[in-house]
Amino acid sequence: MVPNRLFFALLPDAATREAMTLAAKSIALKLAHGGREVPEANLHLTLMFLGDAVPAQDEQAACGAAESVSSDPFTFALDAAGSFPTAWWLGQHKASPELQRLRKSLQTAITTRKVAYDRQHFVPHVTIARHPKTRLATTSIAPVEWRCDSFSLMRSSLAGQGVAYEQIARWSLRSRVEATAAQMSLI
Ligand code: 2AM
Repeated sequence: MVPNRLFFALLPDAATREAMTLAAKSIALKLAHGGREVPEANLHLTLMFLGDAVPAQDEQAACGAAESVSSDPFTFALDAAGSFPTAWWLGQHKASPELQRLRKSLQTAITTRKVAYDRQHFVPHVTIARHPKTRLATTSIAPVEWRCDSFSLMRSSLAGQGVAYEQIARWSLRSRVEATAAQMSLI
């Protein structure tokens, strides 16, 4: 198996990253997770996980799929924090419809191209700590606003004790009308 762990993700800008770190710190002050904190530079929201050993042709097909995704840019807010057995996260009490629509649009494009992906129910979240020793009951946080105007294909590799993420490609969000107009101007 040749490792090639790929996932589509939303990457926050610097100000949003900082706001997430502040939110994470304010929770950690109240309740220690005892796990490994995710460095600020690695904070992201996974839109779709493709697998640990994605073949080169599927990587290419995934890029083609991403190209066909249409969505207006949108703003959403992380308004909750909580935990899975493996992680503490920042997320949403209720997944925003725009985020769900973006995931659905990518899912349709990926399925059309017969690329495998993790079909588990989509729970938008940003992992802030891994391997926690304590659980965190879902709690409200001061909302962290996030302007989403692009999404990226990322590669994850092991780097020393942690992980390193590499952005393979990035797609700006644009509505179907804009996408069609751009295609027509190429003709
Ligand atoms: P997580 O933050 O909830 O752990 C790279 O591994 C990214 O893909 C991580 O953000 C991770 O989510 C996400 N991911 C989703 N499903 C995964 C899986 N089955 N194995 C590894 N990572 C997964």
